[in-house]
Amino acid sequence: MKLVIAANWKMHKTGREAKEFCLELLQKEDDYKGVEVLICPPFTALSAAAAELKDSSVKLGAQNLYPGAQGAFTGEISAAMLKEAGVKYVIIGHSERRHLMGEDDSLVARKIEAAYENGLNPILCIGEKEEEREKGITEKVLKKQLAAALEKLEPGQVKSLVIAYEPVWAIGTGKAASADDAASAADFIYSYLDKHFGKDAAAGVRIQYGGSVKAENIGSFVTLEHVHGALVGGASLEAGSFSELVRAARKAVEG
Ligand code: 13P
Repeated sequence: MKLVIAANWKMHKTGREAKEFCLELLQKEDDYKGVEVLICPPFTALSAAAAELKDSSVKLGAQNLYPGAQGAFTGEISAAMLKEAGVKYVIIGHSERRHLMGEDDSLVARKIEAAYENGLNPILCIGEKEEEREKGITEKVLKKQLAAALEKLEPGQVKSLVIAYEPVWAIGTGKAASADDAASAADFIYSYLDKHFGKDAAAGVRIQYGGSVKAENIGSFVTLEHVHGALVGGASLEAGSFSELVRAARKAVEG
């Protein structure tokens, strides 16, 4: 299964900076063969990134969308707008949107549906907070997030999902989950998908690990049975370090 490694730039980079990053990243494009590499810039840098990535194997993702076709939703961006901008993937339900912007499970579900209706591939983010892990309710939290987000989907849609397991306590802290913790969460997600959507759908889903991923630790995640990629924040902001991280992942799986 092809690894999918996504750069989530969050609120970083102007259009000019995105262009410079893409130019530098593509100098080493041959090194990324066999890995699906995605860049998810802020909305205002999408077109600059799209122009640079157009003839390359690196794909464009967005960080969010609003589940309406059009209308009086000041400040929001629709799936169709993203599609026209050249976007292929869209991050949905990131913990910063859930916990800083107050997005709930039902809004996340509507966003997933809007992405599918418009031919975008969702990257659904789920993950527990530190206090939830300490209480021993990690699986309960993941199950609730999965159940709500996937409720209206058919197995055929689930099959093409990317699900990012991002424990909130590992995001931006430099304290990545252990390989054992990431493995048990990914195994749980896989079993949930298998139970509710069948083997074929579960086997198609690519599960990413996210949270303080860097070149030095990515190998311990992408070699896990049910982990097939990473969602990367801080270490994706420099083309050099992100490129090194993709190479390290490839080396870990290909030997
Ligand atoms: P960091 O890699 O900076 O911990 O961020 C992870 C993340 O939130 C990616 O979506």
